[in-house]
Amino acid sequence: MANPLFFLSLSLLFLSPLSSSKHTPSTTTTPSAAHAELNKYGFPVGLLPINVVGYAVNETSGDFFVSLGDPCKVTLPPDNYLAAYSSRITGKIVAGRIAQLEGIRVRAFFQWWSITGIKSNGDDLVFEVGVVTAKYPSKNFDESPQCQGKRSAS
Ligand SMILES: *[C@@H]1O[C@H](CO)[C@@H](O)[C@H](O)[C@H]1NC(C)=O
Repeated sequence: MANPLFFLSLSLLFLSPLSSSKHTPSTTTTPSAAHAELNKYGFPVGLLPINVVGYAVNETSGDFFVSLGDPCKVTLPPDNYLAAYSSRITGKIVAGRIAQLEGIRVRAFFQWWSITGIKSNGDDLVFEVGVVTAKYPSKNFDESPQCQGKRSAS
């Protein structure tokens, strides 16, 4: 039995070069101070949905939390993976690196996987799911996504 994480990794890596953004964001607006903070640390605003209601960063330790008005689901470009944000997201941020991340999961291969870290690597973002990583162009995250309607009960 092959490790499903391997397939996740393979698939993410394989699919990412096929992505080409069909839309070019005409205006880059920064929805909130938390989003501006992401920019300051070298990350695109699209890592957080728009419904941020509060955040704090300890600039000494890098510990942060972000509060969302509600838990939020978004579809991640370009492969349309469903991502779920808890109403409280925590982690440690320094320039170009988010670690000990809690509160963001992605649905792939019939399971939810916790995104444990994110690195900004030039024009790419590297998402970590445990020891597995997947790379996506940062420009896919130039816009802060809207939360999807709460249709499904499960
Ligand atoms: C920020 O982190 C530093 C180092 O861990 C700690 O000493 C300090 O108390 C923290 N500040 C706040 C406001 O939590």
